[in-house]
Amino acid sequence: MTKFCFCICLIIFFFVSIQTSSSSPSSSSSPYLSPTTFTKNYNKMLVNFKLFIYPPVQHIAFSSPSASLFYKSLINSAFVTREPEEAHLFFVPVSPGTSKRALARLVRELRTRYTFWNRTLGADHFFISPEGIEFSSDRNALELKKNSVQISVFPTVSGNFIPHKDISLPPASTPELKLISEEPVNGTVLGFLNWDGRTEAELVNELKLDDDFLVESEPSNHVERGKNSKFCLFFYSDGSLAATNSMNIATAMSSGCVPVVIVDRPVQDFPLMDVLRWSEMVLLIGNRRGADGVKAVLGGVTAEKYEKMRKLCVAAGQHMVWNDEPQPYDAFHMVIYQLWMRRHTIRYTRREEF
Ligand SMILES: *[C@@H]1O[C@H](CO)[C@@H](O)[C@H](O)[C@H]1NC(C)=O
Ligand SMILES: *[C@@H]1O[C@H](CO)[C@@H](O)[C@H](O)[C@H]1NC(C)=O
Repeated sequence: MTKFCFCICLIIFFFVSIQTSSSSPSSSSSPYLSPTTFTKNYNKMLVNFKLFIYPPVQHIAFSSPSASLFYKSLINSAFVTREPEEAHLFFVPVSPGTSKRALARLVRELRTRYTFWNRTLGADHFFISPEGIEFSSDRNALELKKNSVQISVFPTVSGNFIPHKDISLPPASTPELKLISEEPVNGTVLGFLNWDGRTEAELVNELKLDDDFLVESEPSNHVERGKNSKFCLFFYSDGSLAATNSMNIATAMSSGCVPVVIVDRPVQDFPLMDVLRWSEMVLLIGNRRGADGVKAVLGGVTAEKYEKMRKLCVAAGQHMVWNDEPQPYDAFHMVIYQLWMRRHTIRYTRREEF
């Protein structure tokens, strides 16, 4: 009987292994990089994750809406523990605009007053800096920069973001995002661009002259524009994707508009970069291709491929919604999830069953 059970188990095990290793339809239609473990890990995080917050030296207020919401949700969350010994990660309260010298002093204080920094040289520490911090010659500030997890606003300032370690925040949600209905999309416009009035004027002028594209500086309703457009165009340059009042990439995706990012290099700082399959839901197009080039790329996307991308975008979009009171699987929880996934990189001194 035992032998029999053992065999059955083996068979089930092999079956499951084959299912997960082959690219089955269910995994290719998932927005997650690890569809089979995501929910399980997320639930483990809810039960186990513990964060310790060092007492802030001063009151901290962020002007960036996403940073502000994240910080507020963090300090009020159930993940915070008063027992540093049981914490997986440590939060360093850094005020926005802190000078390099003040930053160095802050870390030096932590290093001498607590035992935790020296254990990993800051690698199990994290902090919020909307613009990111620069390299520094001071040992303390440098360890914070190189070892600790930095949480900044998307898109990040180039040079101030270290891929695979640092995290970018999903852009703040536009209010209409909460009102999205399940209505099917019509997609009458091929490409929609919410132009900031400054960036890359030449391609913008070409797009304006082309009836397949809609270019607006102040769209009345972002979600509606997203729903009526197949693709939403974004110029990737520091800070510009995140302008508070403009269409942002998360709103586009939630409303079923597949993002097209005009950029000449790989993008490594998308929000939830190590959770979502960005390569399957966003198109990157070089800057010098002109309106015809952009159109050629968009035209090359088959109806089947487009529908797949659109569905993944909508599914991913739900994870980029910010709420005043954090909700399951929303932007706050997903950023916390990314921290949860980083807790191992790090801690060599303690073993954890996983
Ligand atoms: C951590 O290490 C530094 C030397 O690198 C030392 O000056 C400091 O006192 C240590 N901190 C603690 C809490 O022992
Ligand atoms: C889609 O098109 C139909 C008719 O062509 C129209 O009644 C409906 O309002 C449109 N939906 C959206 C979201 O624009």
